[in-house]
Amino acid sequence: MAASSGGTLPEEQVRAMFDRIARVYDLMNSVMTVGLHHRWRERAADLAEVGAGDRALDVASGTGDLAIVLSRRVAPGGEVVGSDFSERMLELARAKAPRIAFEHGNALELPYDDDSFDAATVGFGARNFSDLARGLAEMARVVRPGGRVVVLEITTPAKPPLSWFFRAWFDRLVPFLGRMAGDPEAYSYLPSSVRRFPDARGLAAAMTAVGLVNVRWILTAGGIIAIHAGEVEAE
Ligand SMILES: C[S@@+](CC[C@H](N)C(=O)[O-])C[C@H]1O[C@@H](n2cnc3c(N)ncnc32)[C@H](O)[C@@H]1O
Repeated sequence: MAASSGGTLPEEQVRAMFDRIARVYDLMNSVMTVGLHHRWRERAADLAEVGAGDRALDVASGTGDLAIVLSRRVAPGGEVVGSDFSERMLELARAKAPRIAFEHGNALELPYDDDSFDAATVGFGARNFSDLARGLAEMARVVRPGGRVVVLEITTPAKPPLSWFFRAWFDRLVPFLGRMAGDPEAYSYLPSSVRRFPDARGLAAAMTAVGLVNVRWILTAGGIIAIHAGEVEAE
Protein backbone atom coordinates (compact mmCIF):
# COMPACT_ATOMS: atom_id res chain seq x y z
CA MET A 1 0.00 0.00 0.00
CA ALA A 2 2.88 2.36 0.79
CA ALA A 3 3.28 5.59 -1.04
CA SER A 4 0.84 7.38 -3.20
CA SER A 5 0.79 10.22 -5.65
CA GLY A 6 -1.39 12.54 -3.64
CA GLY A 7 -3.60 12.68 -6.70
CA THR A 8 -2.41 16.05 -7.88
CA LEU A 9 0.89 14.91 -9.38
CA PRO A 10 1.15 14.47 -13.13
CA GLU A 11 1.19 10.80 -14.14
CA GLU A 12 4.85 10.88 -15.08
CA GLN A 13 5.75 12.00 -11.57
CA VAL A 14 3.58 9.27 -10.05
CA ARG A 15 5.32 6.67 -12.17
CA ALA A 16 8.77 8.05 -11.32
CA MET A 17 7.91 8.04 -7.61
CA PHE A 18 6.92 4.36 -7.68
CA ASP A 19 10.04 3.51 -9.65
CA ARG A 20 12.03 5.25 -6.91
CA ILE A 21 10.42 3.52 -3.93
CA ALA A 22 10.05 0.07 -5.55
CA ARG A 23 12.98 -1.48 -3.71
CA VAL A 24 11.63 -0.58 -0.24
CA TYR A 25 7.95 -1.04 -1.11
CA ASP A 26 7.36 -4.56 0.23
CA LEU A 27 9.28 -3.95 3.43
CA MET A 28 7.41 -0.71 4.08
CA ASN A 29 4.08 -2.46 3.50
CA SER A 30 4.87 -5.13 6.02
CA VAL A 31 6.13 -2.65 8.62
CA MET A 32 3.28 -0.18 8.18
CA THR A 33 0.54 -2.81 8.31
CA VAL A 34 2.32 -5.23 10.68
CA GLY A 35 1.84 -7.85 7.99
CA LEU A 36 -1.94 -7.49 7.85
CA HIS A 37 -1.95 -6.53 4.18
CA HIS A 38 -1.71 -10.23 3.24
CA ARG A 39 -5.04 -10.89 4.95
CA TRP A 40 -6.66 -7.89 3.21
CA ARG A 41 -5.51 -9.17 -0.17
CA GLU A 42 -7.10 -12.58 0.57
CA ARG A 43 -10.38 -10.82 1.39
CA ALA A 44 -10.16 -8.87 -1.88
CA ALA A 45 -9.58 -12.12 -3.79
CA ASP A 46 -12.63 -13.62 -2.03
CA LEU A 47 -14.77 -10.79 -3.41
CA ALA A 48 -13.32 -11.29 -6.91
CA GLU A 49 -14.92 -14.77 -6.76
CA VAL A 50 -12.46 -16.33 -9.19
CA GLY A 51 -12.00 -20.07 -9.46
CA ALA A 52 -10.07 -22.69 -11.38
CA GLY A 53 -9.68 -21.83 -15.05
CA ASP A 54 -10.63 -18.16 -14.68
CA ARG A 55 -8.74 -15.21 -16.15
CA ALA A 56 -8.10 -12.29 -13.79
CA LEU A 57 -6.43 -8.91 -14.20
CA ASP A 58 -4.71 -7.11 -11.34
CA VAL A 59 -4.45 -3.42 -12.23
CA ALA A 60 -1.69 -1.22 -10.74
CA SER A 61 -0.24 -4.52 -9.60
CA GLY A 62 3.00 -3.10 -8.20
CA THR A 63 5.22 -5.82 -6.79
CA GLY A 64 2.46 -8.34 -7.51
CA ASP A 65 1.18 -9.53 -4.13
CA LEU A 66 -2.52 -9.41 -5.05
CA ALA A 67 -1.83 -11.02 -8.44
CA ILE A 68 -0.05 -13.85 -6.61
CA VAL A 69 -3.07 -14.46 -4.38
CA LEU A 70 -5.34 -14.48 -7.45
CA SER A 71 -3.05 -16.89 -9.29
CA ARG A 72 -3.52 -19.47 -6.52
CA ARG A 73 -7.29 -19.11 -6.84
CA VAL A 74 -7.44 -19.58 -10.64
CA ALA A 75 -5.26 -22.72 -10.66
CA PRO A 76 -5.39 -25.09 -12.34
CA GLY A 77 -5.91 -23.84 -15.85
CA GLY A 78 -6.44 -20.14 -15.15
CA GLU A 79 -4.38 -17.08 -15.90
CA VAL A 80 -3.55 -13.87 -14.06
CA VAL A 81 -2.17 -10.74 -15.68
CA GLY A 82 -0.62 -8.04 -13.51
CA SER A 83 -0.49 -4.60 -15.11
CA ASP A 84 1.41 -1.51 -13.94
CA PHE A 85 3.17 1.50 -15.45
CA SER A 86 6.23 1.38 -13.16
CA GLU A 87 8.94 -0.78 -14.72
CA ARG A 88 10.83 -1.06 -11.41
CA MET A 89 7.74 -2.41 -9.63
CA LEU A 90 7.12 -4.83 -12.52
CA GLU A 91 10.72 -6.11 -12.37
CA LEU A 92 10.28 -7.00 -8.70
CA ALA A 93 6.92 -8.65 -9.38
CA ARG A 94 8.41 -10.75 -12.19
CA ALA A 95 11.29 -11.86 -9.95
CA LYS A 96 8.80 -12.86 -7.24
CA ALA A 97 6.39 -14.74 -9.47
CA PRO A 98 7.98 -15.61 -12.85
CA ARG A 99 4.94 -17.60 -13.97
CA ILE A 100 2.57 -14.62 -13.79
CA ALA A 101 2.43 -12.27 -16.80
CA PHE A 102 3.37 -8.85 -15.44
CA GLU A 103 2.85 -6.35 -18.22
CA HIS A 104 3.40 -2.67 -18.71
CA GLY A 105 0.15 -0.72 -18.97
CA ASN A 106 -1.60 2.45 -17.92
CA ALA A 107 -4.71 1.82 -15.81
CA LEU A 108 -6.47 4.68 -17.56
CA GLU A 109 -5.99 3.07 -20.96
CA LEU A 110 -5.75 -0.66 -20.39
CA PRO A 111 -4.19 -2.50 -23.34
CA TYR A 112 -6.77 -5.32 -23.25
CA ASP A 113 -9.89 -6.17 -25.24
CA ASP A 114 -13.39 -5.67 -23.94
CA ASP A 115 -14.83 -8.55 -21.87
CA SER A 116 -11.49 -10.38 -21.74
CA PHE A 117 -11.30 -11.17 -17.98
CA ASP A 118 -13.56 -12.83 -15.42
CA ALA A 119 -12.50 -10.30 -12.78
CA ALA A 120 -10.32 -7.23 -12.37
CA THR A 121 -8.83 -6.07 -9.07
CA VAL A 122 -6.87 -3.06 -7.89
CA GLY A 123 -5.08 -2.97 -4.54
CA PHE A 124 -3.99 0.37 -3.07
CA GLY A 125 -3.74 1.73 -6.60
CA ALA A 126 -7.04 3.47 -7.30
CA ARG A 127 -6.23 6.50 -5.16
CA ASN A 128 -3.27 7.15 -7.43
CA PHE A 129 -5.37 7.33 -10.58
CA SER A 130 -5.41 10.86 -11.93
CA ASP A 131 -8.95 10.10 -13.16
CA LEU A 132 -10.72 7.62 -10.87
CA ALA A 133 -13.85 7.32 -13.03
CA ARG A 134 -11.77 6.51 -16.07
CA GLY A 135 -9.74 3.88 -14.20
CA LEU A 136 -12.90 2.20 -12.90
CA ALA A 137 -14.54 2.37 -16.34
CA GLU A 138 -11.49 0.70 -17.87
CA MET A 139 -11.65 -2.13 -15.35
CA ALA A 140 -15.36 -2.59 -16.07
CA ARG A 141 -14.71 -2.53 -19.83
CA VAL A 142 -12.21 -5.40 -19.81
CA VAL A 143 -14.35 -7.65 -17.55
CA ARG A 144 -17.01 -9.84 -19.10
CA PRO A 145 -20.69 -9.39 -18.27
CA GLY A 146 -21.34 -10.99 -14.87
CA GLY A 147 -17.66 -10.67 -13.86
CA ARG A 148 -16.38 -8.68 -10.86
CA VAL A 149 -14.45 -5.47 -10.32
CA VAL A 150 -12.80 -5.25 -6.89
CA VAL A 151 -11.14 -2.23 -5.26
CA LEU A 152 -9.01 -2.65 -2.10
CA GLU A 153 -8.17 0.72 -0.59
CA ILE A 154 -7.40 2.60 2.58
CA THR A 155 -10.30 4.63 3.88
CA THR A 156 -10.58 7.22 6.61
CA PRO A 157 -12.39 6.05 9.75
CA ALA A 158 -14.87 8.69 10.91
CA LYS A 159 -15.28 7.84 14.60
CA PRO A 160 -12.91 7.91 17.58
CA PRO A 161 -10.93 6.13 18.87
CA LEU A 162 -9.92 4.71 15.47
CA SER A 163 -9.87 8.13 13.84
CA TRP A 164 -7.32 9.22 16.50
CA PHE A 165 -5.20 6.15 15.92
CA PHE A 166 -5.47 6.64 12.17
CA ARG A 167 -4.24 10.25 12.42
CA ALA A 168 -1.30 9.23 14.58
CA TRP A 169 -0.43 6.39 12.24
CA PHE A 170 -0.72 8.42 9.03
CA ASP A 171 0.41 11.86 10.07
CA ARG A 172 3.33 10.79 12.26
CA LEU A 173 4.36 7.14 11.90
CA VAL A 174 4.12 6.82 8.09
CA PRO A 175 6.12 10.02 7.31
CA PHE A 176 8.67 8.96 9.96
CA LEU A 177 9.04 5.54 8.31
CA GLY A 178 9.35 7.32 4.94
CA ARG A 179 12.27 9.35 6.30
CA MET A 180 13.86 6.15 7.60
CA ALA A 181 13.38 4.54 4.17
CA GLY A 182 15.11 7.48 2.51
CA ASP A 183 12.08 8.88 0.66
CA PRO A 184 10.19 11.30 2.91
CA GLU A 185 8.47 12.94 -0.06
CA ALA A 186 6.83 9.78 -1.34
CA TYR A 187 5.63 8.68 2.08
CA SER A 188 4.24 12.07 2.98
CA TYR A 189 1.91 11.75 -0.03
CA LEU A 190 0.19 8.72 1.43
CA PRO A 191 -1.93 10.55 4.06
CA SER A 192 -2.95 13.30 1.66
CA SER A 193 -3.94 10.88 -1.09
CA VAL A 194 -6.10 8.89 1.32
CA ARG A 195 -7.81 12.05 2.54
CA ARG A 196 -8.63 13.07 -1.00
CA PHE A 197 -10.00 9.64 -1.95
CA PRO A 198 -13.79 9.18 -1.68
CA ASP A 199 -15.14 7.50 1.47
CA ALA A 200 -16.65 4.01 1.18
CA ARG A 201 -20.08 5.30 0.15
CA GLY A 202 -18.54 7.72 -2.36
CA LEU A 203 -16.41 5.02 -3.95
CA ALA A 204 -19.47 2.77 -4.26
CA ALA A 205 -21.26 5.64 -6.03
CA ALA A 206 -18.29 6.09 -8.38
CA MET A 207 -18.38 2.37 -9.22
CA THR A 208 -22.12 2.49 -9.85
CA ALA A 209 -21.64 5.56 -12.04
CA VAL A 210 -19.43 3.59 -14.44
CA GLY A 211 -22.18 0.99 -14.85
CA LEU A 212 -21.25 -1.61 -12.23
CA VAL A 213 -24.18 -3.25 -10.46
CA ASN A 214 -24.67 -4.91 -7.06
CA VAL A 215 -21.90 -2.74 -5.66
CA ARG A 216 -21.13 -3.63 -2.04
CA TRP A 217 -18.25 -3.23 0.33
CA ILE A 218 -16.76 -4.52 3.53
CA LEU A 219 -14.72 -2.56 6.04
CA THR A 220 -11.93 -4.28 7.90
CA ALA A 221 -8.98 -3.39 10.17
CA GLY A 222 -11.38 -1.41 12.34
CA GLY A 223 -12.67 0.61 9.39
CA ILE A 224 -9.30 1.61 7.94
CA ILE A 225 -9.51 -0.73 4.94
CA ALA A 226 -12.43 -0.85 2.49
CA ILE A 227 -12.89 -3.60 -0.07
CA HIS A 228 -15.50 -2.84 -2.71
CA ALA A 229 -16.91 -5.21 -5.32
CA GLY A 230 -19.28 -4.64 -8.20
CA GLU A 231 -20.43 -6.70 -11.15
CA VAL A 232 -20.43 -5.91 -14.82
CA GLU A 233 -24.07 -5.98 -15.81
CA ALA A 234 -25.02 -9.24 -17.50
CA GLU A 235 -26.40 -8.74 -21.02
C1 LIG B 1 0.63 1.77 -3.72
S1 LIG B 1 1.14 0.78 -5.09
C2 LIG B 1 0.10 -0.67 -4.99
C3 LIG B 1 0.76 -1.87 -5.56
C4 LIG B 1 0.02 -3.19 -5.39
N1 LIG B 1 -1.25 -3.18 -6.09
C5 LIG B 1 -0.19 -3.56 -3.96
O1 LIG B 1 -1.30 -3.92 -3.61
O2 LIG B 1 0.75 -3.49 -3.18
C6 LIG B 1 0.40 1.64 -6.41
C7 LIG B 1 0.80 1.12 -7.77
O3 LIG B 1 -0.05 1.73 -8.72
C8 LIG B 1 0.71 1.97 -9.89
N2 LIG B 1 -0.02 2.98 -10.65
C9 LIG B 1 -0.46 4.18 -10.24
N3 LIG B 1 -1.12 4.81 -11.21
C10 LIG B 1 -1.11 3.97 -12.28
C11 LIG B 1 -1.62 4.05 -13.59
N4 LIG B 1 -2.30 5.12 -14.02
N5 LIG B 1 -1.43 3.01 -14.41
C12 LIG B 1 -0.74 1.91 -14.01
N6 LIG B 1 -0.21 1.78 -12.78
C13 LIG B 1 -0.41 2.80 -11.93
C14 LIG B 1 2.06 2.40 -9.36
O4 LIG B 1 3.09 2.27 -10.31
C15 LIG B 1 2.23 1.46 -8.17
O5 LIG B 1 2.90 0.28 -8.55
